[in-house]
Amino acid sequence: MLKLPGLIDPHVHVREPGATHKEDWDTVTQAALAGGVTTLLAMPNTKPPIFDEATLTLALDAANAKARCDYGQYIGAGPDNADIAAALAPKAAGLKMYLDSTFGELRLDDMTLWMPHFQTFPKLAPMVMHAESRTLAAAILFSTIYDHPVHIAHVSLKEEILLIKAAKEKGIKVTCEVCPHHLFLSTEDIPAISHEHPGRGEVRPRLATKEDVHSLWTNLDVIDCFATDHAPHTLLEKDGENPPPGFPGLETMLPLLLTAVDDGRLTVEDIRQKLHNNPKRIFNLPEQPETWVEVDENAIYEIKATESFTRCGWTPFEGWKVKGRVTKVVLRGKTAFEDGKVLAEAGYGKNIRR
Ligand code: DOR
Ligand code: ZN
Repeated sequence: MLKLPGLIDPHVHVREPGATHKEDWDTVTQAALAGGVTTLLAMPNTKPPIFDEATLTLALDAANAKARCDYGQYIGAGPDNADIAAALAPKAAGLKMYLDSTFGELRLDDMTLWMPHFQTFPKLAPMVMHAESRTLAAAILFSTIYDHPVHIAHVSLKEEILLIKAAKEKGIKVTCEVCPHHLFLSTEDIPAISHEHPGRGEVRPRLATKEDVHSLWTNLDVIDCFATDHAPHTLLEKDGENPPPGFPGLETMLPLLLTAVDDGRLTVEDIRQKLHNNPKRIFNLPEQPETWVEVDENAIYEIKATESFTRCGWTPFEGWKVKGRVTKVVLRGKTAFEDGKVLAEAGYGKNIRR
């Protein structure tokens, strides 16, 4: 039996408020526990988005009533909420800035809209950027100009990981995360994922080339955290018109990483660092006393969506053979998951900023 600390996933799309047919605070925290995750940080691109006191309260009230593991909630950076976001910083996981894509009200059309957030958001509070390719270079420049550490979400490209490596070597305060789907999948896997439904292969950032994937593996030391970017959408939506991008990932992350350990591509120490120690430090998370994850390292099995807790009902890793199963999760002294069953009750989860 292998014992791990409670894992921290700093990038999860919970979907509540607004899209609970995809996922809600109950199902997402069940999926988290089944995956060995005892703390998740929730993204603000819900409906409505989380960008002020009223919407933050909406999300936190739902979490307080339903979450089965610990959690934090990000505030989204909008075009005119810098003062409000800064005032709410103590109650939030951090500030999420969508610098590339347009996400409803969380739209930052030009760089003048980034400035007030960099000027106002508290120095010690985490700022997370969705900043791909050349936008990443701009985000790093902002970080140095305004002397505010930034955390780069879902790094997927060779040019991105090399730029972050170079920035770190210069002493710039940048950290980053990589998602399992960008480590284990490339554009070459899209046909197998799609099954004639191209929407199933859609995710942002997109799956990248084999060379990009290889560059992430050869620069593991530059990667501070693993994060799922768990983005559940139903199969009906993925297979319909205008398929939304996103993959679920909470239940498959640890089995995939443990399989990579078995293959000699990763160490258990990497998992401890990138899924516990580093995110705990970067996101200023409190200690979870009497908390651990037990893993049967030798269990070999196939990933099946039918055996998962997420409401979305599918996985891009369907049928993958993995080695390593979560057998038990103890969270703050209570057995929260054991032998395939979630035992923590709805409402047991605590806000990490309380
Ligand atoms: O694939 C993605 N899905 N990328 C994002 O940035 C958003 C996410 C979502 O919310 O579905
Ligand atoms: Zn995301």
